Amino acid sequence: MSGNAAIQQDPAPIVACTISRDVQEFDLLIEDMETELGEGWGDLSLEDALAFFGQPDAEALEFIAVAMDDDDEAELARFAEVIRAASARGIKAIVIAEEVSPIALHQLLKMGAEEFVPYPLPEGALHDAIERLRRPEPEPAAPPQPAQPALQKPGVGHRGAVFGVHGLAGGVGATTFAVNLAWELANIDKNKPPRACLIDLDLQTGSVSTYLDLPRRDAVYELLSDTESADEESFQAALLTFNDQLHVFTAPSEMLPLDLITGEDVERIIDMARAFFDYIVIDMPTTLVTWTETVLNAADVYFAPIELDMRSAQNTLRIIRLLKSEDLPHDKLRYVLNRAPKFTDLSGKSRVKRMAESLDIEIGVQLPDGGKQVMQACDHGLPLSENLAKSPLRKEIMKIAKSLHEISVTAEAAAK
Ligand SMILES: Nc1ncnc2c1ncn2[C@@H]1O[C@H](COP(=O)(O)OP(=O)(O)OP(=O)(O)O)[C@@H](O)[C@H]1O
Ligand SMILES: [Mg+2]
Repeated sequence: MSGNAAIQQDPAPIVACTISRDVQEFDLLIEDMETELGEGWGDLSLEDALAFFGQPDAEALEFIAVAMDDDDEAELARFAEVIRAASARGIKAIVIAEEVSPIALHQLLKMGAEEFVPYPLPEGALHDAIERLRRPEPEPAAPPQPAQPALQKPGVGHRGAVFGVHGLAGGVGATTFAVNLAWELANIDKNKPPRACLIDLDLQTGSVSTYLDLPRRDAVYELLSDTESADEESFQAALLTFNDQLHVFTAPSEMLPLDLITGEDVERIIDMARAFFDYIVIDMPTTLVTWTETVLNAADVYFAPIELDMRSAQNTLRIIRLLKSEDLPHDKLRYVLNRAPKFTDLSGKSRVKRMAESLDIEIGVQLPDGGKQVMQACDHGLPLSENLAKSPLRKEIMKIAKSLHEISVTAEAAAK
């Protein structure tokens, strides 16, 4: 099977089509299509595809394999249109992509593409993608969450406090701290619960939604990709609530480049959050990005979780050096030593002291190791207070929440 020849009237029904600018540029795809479907497939140009979908021959089509490379990105809208039209007719789409940007892929997946396979095709990848397409549809997902009641604004000029959380090395417990701090803040005063919001800006590997068992909404990507047109309504549409008390802006469902957003975007999001909430906890990516500065500047406190190890020590030194050289407010950093040695571990205690001295920092908060149970609580999508209420880790985080709340209440009273 070759070229842009129109679909041939073959005895075997045509169950699939490749669609591309020139299929000859994807010779491995031709080979794999022949292996998978024999003569039961055809090739269409982009121009012919839309017209073909409307013809009776198209009724037997099971799927299309849309092949594109980086040269095609300028024509992304046409590819997206083909996928949308196929999906509207119940024809599934596999995208075969060679060096296509994640943003372009995201657009195509949004238009209804079900599978994405990189080109050159890895061994068996097309076969596996076709198998997955042919699997029966899974049980319908849980019904969508009911619409959230509209948030009430506390009043003109209200400005919530912002707490950044930035793990200085991967896996040091930043998200566990951020999630539980936000939850404790939301529950700090039963009579007058503060309005708390948790924002996951770890756009690629953010796990807030996992730790609170919340779905990732499309509205999040839509808001992030165009904050200029965002308003209070779209901001609220992107938020979810956990147990009716904590408002959460999860990371998007797709892994997106961290530079998808700019400092201005982040500033707009923080400003919107500040208008509605008393406390905003922001979980940051470990990687420094252009907008780290924006959050650092906006933050009232910028927590920096670390562990008692060499990589945390070295990264701490590096971030302090960088912040100083850029004249950024490094004094906002509050070091949080996670998995800190127990009270009785004297050698551990002296190592903490030596680490603080050698880095010339104050380690004001130490969080104990809570063992496997903490990971299990996270995996179950629950804050510690829900089933590990008495754990020393939860108690420490609660103490921090209390002191932040007290500071804020005192400041508010003084301002009156
Ligand atoms: N004090 C603790 N005691 C026991 N387990 C912990 C503790 N803190 C974090 N964990 C566990 O360690 C793992 C990593 O934690 P977490 O996801 O919070 O780290 P992170 O710094 O956000 O990681 P990433 O770099 O992926 O963002 C999780 O399984 C979590 O449950
Ligand atoms: Mg994290």
